[in-house]
Amino acid sequence: MRHTSEMRGDGFPADFLWGCSTASYQIEGSTKADGRGPSIWDEFCREPGRVLGGQNGDLACDSYRRWPEDIALLRALGVGAYRFSIAWPRIQPEGAGKPLQAGIDWYARLADALLAAGIEPWATLYHWDLPLALERKGGWPERDTALRFAEYADIMFRALGGRVKRWVTLNEPWCSAFLGYATGEHAPGRRDEGAAYRAAHHLLLGHGLAVAAFRASGAQGEIGIVINPETPRPATLRDEDIAAAERASVQRTGLWLDPIHGRGYPDEHLCLHGVSMPVLAGDLAAIALPIDFVGINYYNEDAVEAAPIGPATREGHVRVPTWQPKTEMGWDVEPRGLFRVLSRIATSWPVRALYVTENGAAYRDEPDASGAVRDFDRIAYYRGHIAACRDALAHSVPLRGYFAWTLMDNFEWAWGYSRKFGLVRVDERTGERKPKASFYYYRDVVAGQGL
Ligand code: FCB
Repeated sequence: MRHTSEMRGDGFPADFLWGCSTASYQIEGSTKADGRGPSIWDEFCREPGRVLGGQNGDLACDSYRRWPEDIALLRALGVGAYRFSIAWPRIQPEGAGKPLQAGIDWYARLADALLAAGIEPWATLYHWDLPLALERKGGWPERDTALRFAEYADIMFRALGGRVKRWVTLNEPWCSAFLGYATGEHAPGRRDEGAAYRAAHHLLLGHGLAVAAFRASGAQGEIGIVINPETPRPATLRDEDIAAAERASVQRTGLWLDPIHGRGYPDEHLCLHGVSMPVLAGDLAAIALPIDFVGINYYNEDAVEAAPIGPATREGHVRVPTWQPKTEMGWDVEPRGLFRVLSRIATSWPVRALYVTENGAAYRDEPDASGAVRDFDRIAYYRGHIAACRDALAHSVPLRGYFAWTLMDNFEWAWGYSRKFGLVRVDERTGERKPKASFYYYRDVVAGQGL
């Protein structure tokens, strides 16, 4: 832990970074404006049965036009950073070739306005909106997509490098690979486990090549990756359940953090799935280039026990019922899980710095007669998880910041607009933004008065 004179009264270091996260497809809308090309999500939303209620991101929060209101809200919150993502199809409509100046200008304006408001822009290069043209050529299971991603990243470092100082290459590549290509719950909706593992390798390769481009561009600042680790707890102290919990964590932790830290891929895991990675000479070195931070998105923790290894349970574990209250997603509310996953990552991999880059909860959020949302369950969720961050700091976890998910209710992927995570309510008809009680709670947290 750092020296106590730098600590605030609530146990957080004075320089701890408080922020808020969003993602392009979930908030921007204007999917055809200024030459933007189609992404895999535009296409996926149009396929019947893919997204609840057949909804899509055509309008979303209309942030492509209403972004000054978003920045005013961030200022009212008092956060030090805003993590947004760049829609690759706004920069390269076909995923390759000459960039569109209009797309670059839009993000440059956003970054400038954030800086003017005293808010640090954190740009995520890929939060799932792959240019459709690249999917038509095979998508992430193809090596070429990694090369195209590195080119696009390089364009952005050179275009925004003076303004944006913190970069995230990928958001939750597990979701891109496994929800996108194995279970088909996310775009592009394919169901082929082998393709998902190939996608995982090419996502990591794209990440590594982007890191190389960042260092070569001479841009100042830091670069990292955001993963959504899952480290379920064993349901009992039996050795076999402890081993099952270990196996259950690999696809979402070691599969990413091992190669990034130069340890190669977890062979036993690949073996259980009967796959091998399409690794060419030099790939593992590219993936292992040093990064400045790892971002952790955390929502919930499960409990597992051992099960016989078979076709349906190749890793030999099953999830078991738990006692925790559930959010509208059906996800357990377990703040200690955040403490556990932060501690575990800090002790298992040589990470330089950790950030919680997303954390939050969906609730039903019925507004009262005046339109106010008194979301005390969300406040309780935040309070518990932010306290878990403080505990992690007290245990010497190199945690440097926390970002709430999310600024405002938005397009929650396959759930459409039915799942609300916002600190701000967005009227689906008018787009009007109205802070919920949790907004004022988080403002107090940022100001050092929330715990
Ligand atoms: C994460 C995503 C984010 C949002 C939250 C609820 O997996 O990164 O876009 O959908 O879940």
